[in-house]
Amino acid sequence: MKILVIGAHGMLGRTLINRLSHLSDTKNPYPEVVAADLEHVNVTHELSTTRFITQVMPDIIINCAAFTNVDACETQASEAFAVNATGAKNIASAGKQTGAKVIHISTDYVFDGTKNEPYTETDKPSPVSIYGKSKLEGEIAVHEISDNYVIIRTAWLFGPYRNNFVTTMLELGRKTRAVSVVTDQHGSPTYTNDLSFAIWTIISLNLRGMYHVTNSGTCSRYEWARKIFELTGDRISVHPVKTADYKRAAAVPQNSSLNCTKYTTATGHKMRPWQEALKDYMKVCKLLATNCTNGH
Ligand SMILES: NC(=O)c1ccc[n+]([C@@H]2O[C@H](COP(=O)([O-])OP(=O)(O)OC[C@H]3O[C@@H](n4cnc5c(N)ncnc54)[C@H](OP(=O)(O)O)[C@@H]3O)[C@@H](O)[C@H]2O)c1
Repeated sequence: MKILVIGAHGMLGRTLINRLSHLSDTKNPYPEVVAADLEHVNVTHELSTTRFITQVMPDIIINCAAFTNVDACETQASEAFAVNATGAKNIASAGKQTGAKVIHISTDYVFDGTKNEPYTETDKPSPVSIYGKSKLEGEIAVHEISDNYVIIRTAWLFGPYRNNFVTTMLELGRKTRAVSVVTDQHGSPTYTNDLSFAIWTIISLNLRGMYHVTNSGTCSRYEWARKIFELTGDRISVHPVKTADYKRAAAVPQNSSLNCTKYTTATGHKMRPWQEALKDYMKVCKLLATNCTNGH
């Protein structure tokens, strides 16, 4: 089985490449993994995307390429739509032409956050930001074009290789000894390593359709920050603030936690609690020590 990962230098892409190369099951012995990023293919260009995918001829394309800076999307809307919507469309079209299955990674930010409980796959998306709108347009394109796809909505990613909420909190905390964090945004922190295993599970069971996949449990960003400093043992003051007090360009959903029951039922695999995953990540990446690094 040949798997092409596009967006391979990103936070999820790099972990996915590592994990896929070491995972196998009886039906799918070690897959051949091809890694591609912007230097190999620019997904916003239809012809070069088709040409590239036709050369590689993968059985499966995993699309991790995205414009993920939520605030920057507000001022660079056309770039955001080009990567997150047109890019997804181009990959889906090339996948259809070559007979490849498309696994498209999407986001909790397609929801407006007004629901009082975790969102299911059948809840109606209603994004409140350009990032969310562009990602939703990407989902719709994949659904309309591909006849063999999986859309995986995930959330609040952390993992090695790139800065994320955890490394930002550690850097800020160690510099200023105090951080202010919002109490009214709720979601499910998700370890890229665990998500990569879930993606492999979805591949090996040959599932299709839409799945929500996050680590289990929900917290506020404030609770997440408190947990990070509890794990490091650093005496950092974490001040609770409201989203309204914290100026940022993009609107973000207040509750974007995802109900992952469909994934658990289909696979028999329950994602572990986010606290366990966080501890594992911080241990593996040596973030528990005062000099933090974020790579292997
Ligand atoms: N991070 C989160 O908290 C989060 C939450 C929910 C869902 N997601 C979704 O999960 C997926 C992976 O996210 P991530 O955090 O791993 O993203 P990331 O670290 O920002 O990586 C995205 C990758 O896509 C590449 N890319 C950007 N434009 C491209 C283009 N035109 N053609 C080809 N490649 C391009 C980027 O290259 P450059 O770095 O060179 O630009 C980067 O390597 C995305 O679909 C994202 O929407 C992320």
